[in-house]
Amino acid sequence: MTTSSETIEVTPSARRLTSSLRDIGYDVNAAVADLIDNSLSAGARNVDVFAEYCVDGLSFLMIADDGAGMSDREIDEAMRFGSERAYEDSDLGKYGLGLKTASLSQARRLTVASRTAPSRAKVRLRCLDLDHIEQVDRWEVLASLSDSNVAWAGACYEHLQRGPGTVVVWDRLDRLLRNSMHNDGAGRRRLRNVANGLHLHLGMVFHRFLEGIADGWDGERLTISVNGTKVRPWNPFAIDQAETVTMSPSRFEVTLGGVPSTIRFDPYVLPARSLFDDPDEFERLSGPRKWNRQQGLYIYRADRLVQSGGWAGIRAIDEHTKLARAALSFGPELDDLFRVNVAKMRVTVPSEIRSLVTPDIGALCKRAQLMYRRDQRTSDGTTEQPEPRSGPVATGASSLDLARLATGLAAAAAATGTTAELRRMAESLALDDADIVRRIGWVE
Ligand SMILES: Nc1ncnc2c1ncn2[C@@H]1O[C@H](COP(=O)(O)OP(=O)(O)OP(=O)(O)O)[C@@H](O)[C@H]1O
Ligand SMILES: [Mg+2]
Repeated sequence: MTTSSETIEVTPSARRLTSSLRDIGYDVNAAVADLIDNSLSAGARNVDVFAEYCVDGLSFLMIADDGAGMSDREIDEAMRFGSERAYEDSDLGKYGLGLKTASLSQARRLTVASRTAPSRAKVRLRCLDLDHIEQVDRWEVLASLSDSNVAWAGACYEHLQRGPGTVVVWDRLDRLLRNSMHNDGAGRRRLRNVANGLHLHLGMVFHRFLEGIADGWDGERLTISVNGTKVRPWNPFAIDQAETVTMSPSRFEVTLGGVPSTIRFDPYVLPARSLFDDPDEFERLSGPRKWNRQQGLYIYRADRLVQSGGWAGIRAIDEHTKLARAALSFGPELDDLFRVNVAKMRVTVPSEIRSLVTPDIGALCKRAQLMYRRDQRTSDGTTEQPEPRSGPVATGASSLDLARLATGLAAAAAATGTTAELRRMAESLALDDADIVRRIGWVE
């Protein structure tokens, strides 16, 4: 027997929903970063951000890229909450929401202007205006500006004159400027601070792109500018410092929904203050939340940083391990495992992955503690002493026995496919008794 049931379409209230979607957790930095994700997905290599204070409530924030731009069909789809699009393997987009939700988290009006053709300066424009939606309570976008009293039109059209690309503008900045909107001094200060904050945040989130080390970029670099000044990449691992310790990486094969994927774990111990080339660089590397709170995992999705610092519940923040940082990188095919949130500001490291990386994190933190103690001794003015020897092997065993033991263990590890584990054990042993490791020939 078949049963049929009547269905009733229940359309959401545009007025209510657009208003509540403003509060899904973006701050201004995350909101701008989400729009730059879109620029990258569209193949942009240059992104210019302007945060400009203007009198009479005309202040705006504009993000202009030189990506592929959007056709008529694409720009309409782009403005839809829950846009449909086929995503590529390394695509930074996921939900079809970012453009709208990120923008409305800061502004009452979002305007998108886009040009595709290199030979023809035809500009398509769409405008999502909360005041209009409140009035009509329908999911409508406008094909022209809802009012032409804007301060950004010149800059926008000038940008699109140069070639294909997309310009996204936020104005009526009720959230971004809040009460300072009507006060010149406070408004200007606020936008200056926003621009400064963006420099740091974008330099961190997109550092792999800015440095040309993102997968598939082959050394090509992204350029981002904020109010005309180039954003400098902030690589959390101080890879340019001679004393940075790059520990052995680990790769974990994971299959989700039948799709195999690799999670990469790359641990580093950063140099202690006294070992940095330059004290200013030590300060810069401390990061936005400073050394203690910037220790831990840097989680990258498709090479874009989504979470920085903290140990994802694996261990606590500790002064003694403040020099330990590790990259944990995964691809969008593992989104369901990591539960990336809409604002791309947070992931949850699942317990299976936590167990996989816990031993590596243990080894990393041990090494970081050594670095920390080394620095303490130097700054105390006491001379560095070798670590005290410990363990049964060190006393009385001849060097011949040790060499034979080392060869035997290496052969056994090779036979059982556990060479990587043995290497990790050797690294861990080196932290407790560097002398043994040296004597048996396991040079790290
Ligand atoms: N700067 C841009 N250049 C070209 N196309 C863009 C640009 N910004 C947005 N789009 C188009 O608009 C669509 C919707 O963007 P939106 O950010 O809302 O969703 P998404 O990027 O697909 O997913 P997510 O919600 O995860 O960001 C994109 O899929 C893309 O096709
Ligand atoms: Mg997006």
